[in-house]
Amino acid sequence: MTTTTTHDVKELAKLPVVRLQDVLLARLVVREEAARLGFAAQALTQIATAVSEITRNVVQHSGGSGRLSVCEIASSGRIGLKIDVDDSGSGIDDLDHILAGAPPGAGIPGCRKLMDEFAIRSSAGAGTSVTMVKWLPHA
Ligand SMILES: Nc1ncnc2c1ncn2[C@@H]1O[C@H](COP(=O)(O)OP(=O)(O)O)[C@@H](O)[C@H]1O
Ligand SMILES: [Mg+2]
Repeated sequence: MTTTTTHDVKELAKLPVVRLQDVLLARLVVREEAARLGFAAQALTQIATAVSEITRNVVQHSGGSGRLSVCEIASSGRIGLKIDVDDSGSGIDDLDHILAGAPPGAGIPGCRKLMDEFAIRSSAGAGTSVTMVKWLPHA
């Protein structure tokens, strides 16, 4: 499991993740913020896809509600976008098995590949927290 270390953090937006329309809104808002920070087209697609997948999981699988927070982060002069998605649902009891799965281009293993940093914490009954970071290339 990858850990994330960040320094300066500025929250750009916070959204509820409860229904399907929240997935669409989260995708749109995070993509907008990423574009504003200067991410190129391919990275925007990767970020938007990861946000869609992780927020969709909350709606489809958690049985609870969640929220998303998107932040601009800075570390050693580098700017990045950090996305946290937390839910208070069922949790995932076989996380290691899921992480080991072959990425079908989406899903949790796929998101891990799309982002620079990906951390997931979950246990049965205790909800799930996902943190993802994408760094802007050095100027
Ligand atoms: N937020 C969540 N809460 C509870 N279970 C989850 C959550 N996210 C994922 N899961 C479980 O992990 C499995 C794998 O998720 P994922 O890799 O996104 O594939 P998929 O959504 O296509 O099944 C899901 O089928 C579900 O059982
Ligand atoms: Mg999924």
